Amino acid sequence: MKRKILCVVGTRPEAIKMAPVILALKKEPWAQVRVLATAQHRHMLDQVLSFFDIEPDIDLDIMRPNQALTTLTARLLLDMDDVLLEEKPDVVLVQGDTTTVMTVGLACFYHRIPVGHVEAGLRTWDMQNPFPEEANRVIAGKLARWHFAPTEGSRQNLLREGVLDTEIVVTGNTVIDALLMTAAKDLEIGIDLDTDKRLVLVTSHRRENFGEPFRNICRALLTLAEQNPDVQFLYPVHPNPNVKDVAHEFFGTCANVRLCEPLDYAPFVAAMKRAYLIISDSGGVQEEAPALGKPVLVLRDETERPEAVEQGVVKLVGSNYELIVNEAQRLLDNGGAYREMARGISPYGDGHGAERIVNVLREYFA
Ligand code: UD1
Ligand code: UDP
Repeated sequence: MKRKILCVVGTRPEAIKMAPVILALKKEPWAQVRVLATAQHRHMLDQVLSFFDIEPDIDLDIMRPNQALTTLTARLLLDMDDVLLEEKPDVVLVQGDTTTVMTVGLACFYHRIPVGHVEAGLRTWDMQNPFPEEANRVIAGKLARWHFAPTEGSRQNLLREGVLDTEIVVTGNTVIDALLMTAAKDLEIGIDLDTDKRLVLVTSHRRENFGEPFRNICRALLTLAEQNPDVQFLYPVHPNPNVKDVAHEFFGTCANVRLCEPLDYAPFVAAMKRAYLIISDSGGVQEEAPALGKPVLVLRDETERPEAVEQGVVKLVGSNYELIVNEAQRLLDNGGAYREMARGISPYGDGHGAERIVNVLREYFA
């Protein structure tokens, strides 16, 4: 008898990190794989699913412009009732720390359906940072039956919260599975860039930075762009209006800051490979860039991904104007400092995360 595994994706990073799991499960004769897109993101989710050739079986099409967390949560919970009653999956897999993960975890708990949490155990121990993701993953962690922890550190976090050792498996982060699958291909950024200039790649979207912190970040980037006319900045802008409108206000006319729509995953990987330096508040980028040997300045005060910081290849600069300008300028000017951060290590995975997750489920059903 086939076992029904419902794999849930809501946003861009969930799709990138769940894709290797979906593709690996589809090769298993015992598994009937169903893909549920909550579509908490629309275009950015579709970009990724189409790149990995994954078509959702169910699409809730939940995204609304500038959606509020409470409404998003309420709508997702209501829709999940119908999905779970109709689908009756044996297991549901969720990934990460978004509103999709928290609500789907809760709905499955109410329906007594076991949940596997992919990328479990990341913690800053500060509910406000990142907001609301720390709360989302703590709640998902309380409800999950399997905790697929990317690193030993995340396993330790779960043990500290009282999760049973037997329910945790250290798998590595499937973001590295996706990255290795993609980076091996012949990739193009698809945007005209000056090949003689060094490239600084920028992304930013965190809710806790909205408002003045994000404006500080923009001011710092503007100063860096003015101080370094020989460097080009590429900034694929997140479509959240709290980010998009401000980014366009700051950089609309700046000659060496190129704003663009969110890049498709493959072109974005190409941009990371081409970049000299990455400045970002993204979780996924903090995991990918070290594996590509690219230093990252992280626009956050705290991170749930301390491994790369401890190894000196990622540095936290928050939304502090001076810190951002000084650290970036140091890496642009000082070859020694740059080389120390550009060492090419991969603390988050070895490309076999999905395989380990599938092994756990295969054994469970056997
Ligand atoms: C969400 C996640 C965050 C994750 C990020 C990845 C929550 C609360 N936040 O943040 O953890 O790091 O995704 O990118 O789960 N929008 C579009 N088109 C899209 C996607 C978004 O227009 O394809 C706009 C919409 O106006 C939408 C807004 O962005 O309402 C916010 O989307 P939402 O998923 O609520 O939050 P993010 O900031 O994207
Ligand atoms: N990414 C992408 N296009 C972009 C920016 C990022 O495909 O223009 C990818 C990136 O490679 C990473 C993921 O999106 O795998 C990170 O998503 P995001 O920063 O939106 O969310 P987070 O990881 O912070 O939750």
